[in-house]
Amino acid sequence: MSSTLPLSPQVFAILSSLIEERLGLFFSADYRAALVEKLSPRALELGFESMLDYYYFLRYDQAATAELLAIADALTVNETYFHREVTQLRVLVEDRLASLVAGGGRPRVWCAACSTGEEPISLASLLDERGLLGSVDLVASDISERALQVARRGQYGARAVRAFETLPQWLRRDGDFHVASARLRESIDWRRVNLLDATAISALGLFDAIICRNAMIYFRDETTQAVVSRLHAALVPDGYLLIGASESLLRLGTAFVCEERRGAFFYRKGSA
Ligand SMILES: C[S@@+](CC[C@H](N)C(=O)[O-])C[C@H]1O[C@@H](n2cnc3c(N)ncnc32)[C@H](O)[C@@H]1O
Repeated sequence: MSSTLPLSPQVFAILSSLIEERLGLFFSADYRAALVEKLSPRALELGFESMLDYYYFLRYDQAATAELLAIADALTVNETYFHREVTQLRVLVEDRLASLVAGGGRPRVWCAACSTGEEPISLASLLDERGLLGSVDLVASDISERALQVARRGQYGARAVRAFETLPQWLRRDGDFHVASARLRESIDWRRVNLLDATAISALGLFDAIICRNAMIYFRDETTQAVVSRLHAALVPDGYLLIGASESLLRLGTAFVCEERRGAFFYRKGSA
């Protein structure tokens, strides 16, 4: 028996549009072979004889929710590392969070596509450096349960620490691995949240800052626009959205005001 199921252009079209509808991820026709490679083993494992049957299951079967989660694990790109684009995080802590705490507030920050956790743990270490770790509520989420399991375990290889000065109070060496301190990991409320799920996002409450970096690059503009307007609604007046250095919202005409602070870009929600 063949180890892959064929995927016709027609079935690719409906399957990729279902994936975009449910997960946001956009796959152009160039990715047909990649989708076969990733999804055909799953379809075979579940006993389907064609990708069309697998598609019908995903679209119409109540039991398909778990399979969509597995697809999210298989299709998402989880590349990240400690202190990636760190200036932006540092400026957020020093210019924004520190002054909110100094003014008697308890800021809330949501890291909305945290992958395996290096980004929120980096933020936690920057807060810790300034004695602010216990004064800020941190929520970190991703759609991929597999990535979140790594984050909760906190065990990382050499690639994850390539830009990070590994101080033992934050990352301890354990053989070939680096283990993030339980104090940092436990300061973060880890959740599985799909950025397309408006109900799940509004249930998280309001945030002073949302970090959503290098995730919307996998979305088409319509999806990014919908996600950005949900993130806008999840911010307090004057709240900040942080996106990746290679991303821009300017062409989408969002309700945010783009600001530069000490070399880092932020999207600020208006105060009205
Ligand atoms: C390249 S990683 C970026 C990680 C980190 N923010 C950074 O900049 O280093 C992109 C992350 O977005 C997540 N993602 C993709 N689609 C998502 C969705 N619909 N909802 C939530 N997370 C999603 C992926 O699972 C992946 O972990």
